[in-house]
Amino acid sequence: MENQGISISSSHDLAKFRDVDFQGFFCYHKSLLKESRRRRCSLRHRSLGVRRGKEVRPEKRELIYEGRTKKLYQTDRPELIVQEFSDDAVLLDGKKKAKIKNKGALNNQVSSHLFEYLEGYHIPTHFVQQLSDCEMLVKRLEIIPLEVVIRNVAAGSLTTQYGMKEGLDLPHPILEHYMKSDHLPPPLLNEYHILVMGLATPEEIKLVNRIATKVNVVLRSFFERRNLKLLDFALEFGRHRGKILLGDEISPDTCRLWDSRTNKKLDADHFRQDSDSMREAYEEIRNRVFTKVA
Ligand code: TMP
Repeated sequence: MENQGISISSSHDLAKFRDVDFQGFFCYHKSLLKESRRRRCSLRHRSLGVRRGKEVRPEKRELIYEGRTKKLYQTDRPELIVQEFSDDAVLLDGKKKAKIKNKGALNNQVSSHLFEYLEGYHIPTHFVQQLSDCEMLVKRLEIIPLEVVIRNVAAGSLTTQYGMKEGLDLPHPILEHYMKSDHLPPPLLNEYHILVMGLATPEEIKLVNRIATKVNVVLRSFFERRNLKLLDFALEFGRHRGKILLGDEISPDTCRLWDSRTNKKLDADHFRQDSDSMREAYEEIRNRVFTKVA
């Protein structure tokens, strides 16, 4: 099996991805899926010169980026970086607030688990392995400066800016692009903006949208089986060795989740003013993510 990272170099590769994308994963038998996941992990590691089964322990070096909730560190391997999650929470005005105990570890656990899960469905991600409570090892990406948001249920800006009723099930998902920016709220973009500003090529936009749509299908079903409704979430992508990989994190910080039986809100926005409730909601999500279901 080849490395499943998606090459953007030719339309043939796009067609190949389309086949993997929509024919493949619906008909997987569970054991085949497990085997495929195991082999993929192995290949993912081997392509970076790392043997499966051996812990990768690159030397953590200088800080290369500090975001609001994460820090990135260079390692002694140029293509690998350490993504470290902090306990900082962010208010709606974008400023940091007091720390939420254990939030970094919870987000790291959830993200690591979901990245591995997505890799099992041939979704190419930057994830290599979890290193510690708050650290994961990832492939170095050239970040595409977009936030890709997918919405299944009306909430957040769909209610505040478009007047939709909160909780309304959308007849089909809405995919949006925002510019990665310190402006709040971040500017909503259409494809013309993206092309004129040179943020991504038409092929890259197509590929990013296709991967994001597939992530939505896989995660929605994953959460549904754990009695969680995935209302919306944000993804980031980057380039690595000519391929587009899913980057950043997938955690309660970037997903809006409700309990599907009671509609209890478990998302960060609801709890930003109350640290204890926010930690409890994040723990609840972590526990459900790790629940084994049929
Ligand atoms: P919104 O309804 O406030 O626009 O947010 C939609 C979803 O996307 C919500 O789950 C939060 C997430 N999001 C981020 O995590 N980062 C971002 O920069 C944006 C625009 C959205």
